[in-house]
Amino acid sequence: MNNNLLNVIIAGLKLTTPTALASGILGYSAESMQAVAESGAGAVVTKSVGVTPRMGYANPTVVQAKTGLINAVGMANPGINEYIKEISYAKTILQVPLIVSVYGYSAEEYALVSKKAAEAGADAIELNVSCPHVKDTGTEIGQNPRTLTEVIKAVKASVQKPVIVKLSPNVTDITDIAETAVKAGANALTAINTVKAMAIDPETTLPILSNTKGGLSGPAIKPIALRCVYDIHERVKTPIMGCGGITTWQDAVEFFLAGATAIQIGTAIALNDPGVFQTINKGVTAYLKKKQYRSVKEIVGLSHRS
Ligand SMILES: Cc1cc2nc3c(=O)[nH]c(=O)nc-3n(C[C@H](O)[C@H](O)[C@H](O)COP(=O)(O)O)c2cc1C
Repeated sequence: MNNNLLNVIIAGLKLTTPTALASGILGYSAESMQAVAESGAGAVVTKSVGVTPRMGYANPTVVQAKTGLINAVGMANPGINEYIKEISYAKTILQVPLIVSVYGYSAEEYALVSKKAAEAGADAIELNVSCPHVKDTGTEIGQNPRTLTEVIKAVKASVQKPVIVKLSPNVTDITDIAETAVKAGANALTAINTVKAMAIDPETTLPILSNTKGGLSGPAIKPIALRCVYDIHERVKTPIMGCGGITTWQDAVEFFLAGATAIQIGTAIALNDPGVFQTINKGVTAYLKKKQYRSVKEIVGLSHRS
């Protein structure tokens, strides 16, 4: 979409629209990321990739809740050595920035995967320090300020590309973690990953997910994500990618007003609408024109009372 109203720059990345594909929603293929970009996404984030291939959990890995999904996919991924082929290929067909999501079990692993992803052509790295359902990684790294600092510093030392840190809502105070990430060198923050959750089947009397617990996404978490973005924007000046339950252009506008420079969309694509990027971009454009703003940048953080 060639529409100057929607251009933003985040962590040095030039986005023609402020709506990006969230990590994990459309797997790993370059073609599916390209399809999303063609339908209006201004950037794409890959599913998280680690050092070695991982099968993930047995089925069921996703269960539908009333207003969202609970997933415990278990970081299924082909491993970075295999995935660099797809990254290199994606770079030849994608017209929008490619952000590679990375996870690891130590600072060294995060740094190694990030380095390989950057060498293969990733435009930026998103650190998944917020997955709620895999032991010894994700939230277990992101909720510990010391480990988080080590991870970010190691990655910053190993890549020249922008580093975006994806935060978990499953912590006592997300703004403390945001500040830690910024002090360690984060160029941008993504808020939020899924909210720890579960579902139980009354018939079998057992938890539905094979992993028992997972992460809730979709409309149910939108107000939580919005509050997180609002609070982080009050605390740090680093740009934020808002994520969590965004389904309509009105949701998107709320996130900009709370302080997000750009947004990421996940579950809405899976649940109802592959055309969601275009619908949201059109709605945001109409809103900006009606309110006589010249750019989406003008409304970032506007809800904060000074
Ligand atoms: C099936 C599924 C898989 C996901 N996989 C990842 C992942 O690999 N890495 C990650 O950082 N987030 C992952 N997420 C979280 C999303 O990127 C996003 O943060 C979350 O779903 C909230 O946004 P949404 O409500 O728009 O989906 C996944 C979410 C879902 C539903």
